[in-house]
Amino acid sequence: MTARTPRGAEALPTLAALRRRGAPIVMITAYDYPGGRIAEQGGADVVLVGDSAANTVLGYATTREISMDELLMLTRAVRRAVRDIPVIGDLPFGSYESSDELAVASARRFMDEAGCSAVKLEGAGDMLPRVRAIIGAGIPVIGHVGLLPQSVTSPDGYRARGRDVDQALGIVADAASLAEAGCAAIVVEAVPSEIGALITERVDVPVIGIGAGAATDGQVLVYHDLLGYGESRPAKFVRRYAAAHELFVEAVRRWAGDVRARTFPSREEGYTIAPGVLDEVKSKL
Ligand code: KIV
Repeated sequence: MTARTPRGAEALPTLAALRRRGAPIVMITAYDYPGGRIAEQGGADVVLVGDSAANTVLGYATTREISMDELLMLTRAVRRAVRDIPVIGDLPFGSYESSDELAVASARRFMDEAGCSAVKLEGAGDMLPRVRAIIGAGIPVIGHVGLLPQSVTSPDGYRARGRDVDQALGIVADAASLAEAGCAAIVVEAVPSEIGALITERVDVPVIGIGAGAATDGQVLVYHDLLGYGESRPAKFVRRYAAAHELFVEAVRRWAGDVRARTFPSREEGYTIAPGVLDEVKSKL
């Protein structure tokens, strides 16, 4: 795919403007064309094609299993759907940690092949050189601190972070170092609300929380979680606004019933053929 000017790229600075105005930032994930359309029509400010696609869409046990090519394909689909707001690519596990060169090359693929406005990656500390290298290559970066799903290897690893002094101080310091390194925004996941508030007070870039309380500059939720699309048990911080899974199961159940009762399709749901044409077809059989 050829490089395109990322639509919505010019809108990324508006996240900072929203923060300055004190207007909450609305970020949602999406993973396909209809999801992208729904996200934009629903009024999101920014769409993240999260590596949570590993769980929500591809059925992997952890986000560590989704590949670069899988995530790029989903990101392109969302990009085709979203017209006027930024789309953020999520660097998958293994695509950036080992070297600055790899990090820049992976980030560039999300920009050039999927038309993203920025990329997100997890962690600070050892990842700061990667963040600086990507930003140095002219690609905006969104940081991610607190719970880092790519570091979770067992089901009990999704606990909140920052509930003891050392961990809380570490997360606040990580967020500050990412802001200092030039991140355009920072996602903070699964920390006590007070720690979300402290981070938001102490950094000068937009802080977007997921399970980080109400004081952050914005909120992000996973599309499937807020729509109830899927069977996974939602985390404590998820508020469900629909029951899509049940709705869809019921629709399929009704259609299957109609097929079995031979009430689907109706005459109106079929194509017609002129009687003369049909007679000729039959005569030639
Ligand atoms: O992958 C994802 O969906 C994310 C959000 C939880 C922020 O990183």
